[in-house]
Amino acid sequence: MADAKVVEYLHQALAAEIHAIAQYMDHHARCADKGYTRLADEFEKEAKEEMVHAEKLMERLLFLEAPITYLKHGTPATLTDVEAMLKADLELETLAVQRLAAGIKACEAAGDYGSRHLLEGLLIDEERHWDELRRHLDLYKTHGVQYLLIRG
Ligand SMILES: [Fe+2]
Ligand SMILES: [Fe+2]
Repeated sequence: MADAKVVEYLHQALAAEIHAIAQYMDHHARCADKGYTRLADEFEKEAKEEMVHAEKLMERLLFLEAPITYLKHGTPATLTDVEAMLKADLELETLAVQRLAAGIKACEAAGDYGSRHLLEGLLIDEERHWDELRRHLDLYKTHGVQYLLIRG
């Protein structure tokens, strides 16, 4: 039987992934509309990776024979300023890493090593997302709007 605390963290992680998908899709669409090709591509890639994360969490919940609960996940940051978008996304990834770290501890305490392995993989991906966003933010600050028009 699934540990209740682990299931709670899996649900929280799922809600956060759905929130992230919505936010990255929003940012993708806004950047594509402005012709900011490089970031539009980047945000689309991130949204797809978060979708894979959500899928893995759903599969794990089903494996544990736990219900899939869609927790309220808040309103995505729908911003028009590129720098603000990137900062909001960096914040989102920082919170994801913190949330997953807490979930990993709960899995460890419950002896659920399969769920721990899943969350560890997600955490590594979120750290990479954070790093990629930081790089884009630095490049944007250095090169400005020209940087956004290049397909990267
Ligand atoms: Fe994710
Ligand atoms: Fe992410």
